Order: sequence, then C-alpha cells, then structure tokens
Amino acid sequence: MSQTKPLNLVQKLAARFAGTAPGPTAQTRRIPVSAYTDAERFDRERQHLFMQQPLILAHASQLGNSGDALVWDWLGVPLITLRDKSGAVATFRNVCRHRGMRLVQDEGQTCLRALVCPYHQWTYGLDGALRNIPRDEVFSDLDTASLGLARVATEVRHGLVWVQAEGEMNLDEHLAGLGDDFDEFQLADHHFCQQSVRTVKANWKFIQDAFLDAYHVTRLHKHTVGPFFPDAVAETDLIGRHTRSAVARNEIEEAVHLPPDQLDLRRHATFSYTVFPGSVLVFQPDYPAVISLFPQAPDRTVFVHSMLTRHPPASDEEQAHFARSFRLIDEGVFGAEDIFVAEGAQRGIASGANDHLIFGGLEEAAISFHDIVEREIEQ
Ligand code: FES
Ligand SMILES: [Fe+2]
Repeated sequence: MSQTKPLNLVQKLAARFAGTAPGPTAQTRRIPVSAYTDAERFDRERQHLFMQQPLILAHASQLGNSGDALVWDWLGVPLITLRDKSGAVATFRNVCRHRGMRLVQDEGQTCLRALVCPYHQWTYGLDGALRNIPRDEVFSDLDTASLGLARVATEVRHGLVWVQAEGEMNLDEHLAGLGDDFDEFQLADHHFCQQSVRTVKANWKFIQDAFLDAYHVTRLHKHTVGPFFPDAVAETDLIGRHTRSAVARNEIEEAVHLPPDQLDLRRHATFSYTVFPGSVLVFQPDYPAVISLFPQAPDRTVFVHSMLTRHPPASDEEQAHFARSFRLIDEGVFGAEDIFVAEGAQRGIASGANDHLIFGGLEEAAISFHDIVEREIEQ
C-alpha cells in the first residue's frame, strides 16, 4: 500500500506549527439544511450507506469467549452477533424460523449456550443450526438443515467486528488500506473495557461533523480537553472514503525540533479516523475510543461508544481509574459538548432560521465528508 504513514501527518503538523508550511485555504461552502432533515434523503442514506456497507459493530475482544453475544436492533432489523464454539464470530437475524418470533429478547451484551425461542422453544445452536423442535412428529416434510438462522455477512479484521446487513461484504475494497494504520496503532492488541449506548436527538451527520472539525476544539471544549491543543492545527487526508485527521497537541512545539523517529503518534497529535459511513476511532492519550452511529430517523441516532485499553485492568483501583477516564470523555467531552451541539444544531435548523449551514477553511474535512455522502447516495 503506498499511502502515507500517520507519522507523515505529524511531520506536517510540526511544519505547520513552525510556520514553514502554509495554513488552511480560505473558502466558504454551503450545505442545505435539508441534508439533515429530509425524510426521503434519510431513507437513501440509511439504505445505501448503512444497510449495504460494512459497519464497525464492536472490538473483537467484546465477544472474547464462546457464547458471548450482542443483541442489537440498531439497523431496524433484529440481529445477534456472537462467538461460536469454534471461535468464529457470526451474525444472524435474531428471528425464529418457525413463526417469526424475535428470538433473544434483551438488547445488549449477553452470554448464551443456545438460542431458545420463547414461543414454542425451537432451539438453535451458536452456529445458527436448528437443533431441536419440541414434538417434531407433528411436522411433516421439514428440511431442518435448511432452517438454520439467516446469516448476515460478518468479518473480524484489525481487531474489529465488521457487519454488513445486506449483500456480500467486500471488506478489502471498503478498507482501501485503512487497516495498515489500525495495525500501526495496534488496534487488535487492545481490550474492550466498557461501553455506553445512547440515543442522540440529532441527525447522524451532525455528530460526524463535530468529529471532523478542529475549529471547535479550543472553543467548545475550553473547559475540558481544549487547553491541551493549539488552535486548529490539523492535517487531514482521505484513505478511500475514510477520513484520517491528526490534530496537533501542545507538545507539537517540541516536535518541531525532533528527528522523525522520535515523533509520537499519541503525544504530539490526536489521531481520529472517520470510518465511512458511521464510525469514528479516536486515539486519545488515555484510551482509544470507538464510536459507531446507527441512524434511526432524520433527527435521531443511536451512539455507541466503547473504551479500549492496552491491557485488562490489573486491580480494582485500575478498574476505577479506567471508569473515571471513560466518564470524563463519555459524559463530559462527548455528552455535554459534542452531542450537546449536535442536538442544539438539530433544534436550531428545525426553526427554519437557516436555509444552509456554512463551512469554512478549517472545516474542510467535513466538506469532503459531505461530498462523499452525496456521491454515494446518488449511485
Ligand atoms: S415462533 Fe419460535 S418456536 Fe414458534
Ligand atoms: Fe469535539
């Protein structure tokens, strides 16, 4: 793969900070508010972007043992993703083949030995095969081998579980080389620690916009993480349809004088990857955050935020420390700041005050993201 390495972005940031590379180019782009409100447009986005493309569901370690399962309806389809006895991760429609009952009831993480339908107790193995039909003598000519649970395309790659609700998954084409960066950040060697799931009252793109804009960091986040950053010194590029962003941290000052082999991907910058369409991976100094968005309505989005750590907590103390770091980001930086503005903007545009939203030279990554969405839903 010939793509540039993340370290090249840190070098560019240092040059930009030192004033030896040019700053952002002035520009003004207008995006119609209908992109965030229109129901027909929303349906096209959901269908083309979220049902027919690989999505990041979880870190593979969240389903670490055989029987570990995630029950999720976030795509509007009852699904269950689980690790079977052979160690493989699979996704099935969480629907009984007898008379269509939704099979495992409680959404979220669970551990199963088998899937038993509450209605007439048809029972399925972790491999999805139909294992038992009570009073099976009352059925004639049933081909039980063909009555396993309906499978949905799933792959584990770079430590992440990728799921595609419809059609066949072509993950290599989708990744377009992005995996090299994930390997560089040793994503597969991390451990799932904890997760929050919330419904945000905003269009999913308002949330992506917030992660694609370095302009707000020292302003909106001035009471939390803002002071760790100089004002909007950022580099972004595209890997396939995914956006790679590096935002300089205050330590970039020392990087100006360091040889390339001493630049540090976490100390001198914060990298975030907007994985098209609905995920964001942020390599924060405390922990890597994996965020996945699942649009429910033009103004409603399920927001799933997972914390990964380099090792499982070694003590109760460390567990408490991880929990504090998570809360600080989850409730503070995301909840009270990034999500606060996404919901505020959704309410703002519902007033009819603006026909368009305005994006400038420090919001270029968001502009290119909107261009890609536009292109993809036209196809
Ligand atoms: S619907 Fe599931 S056993 Fe009858
Ligand atoms: Fe932010």
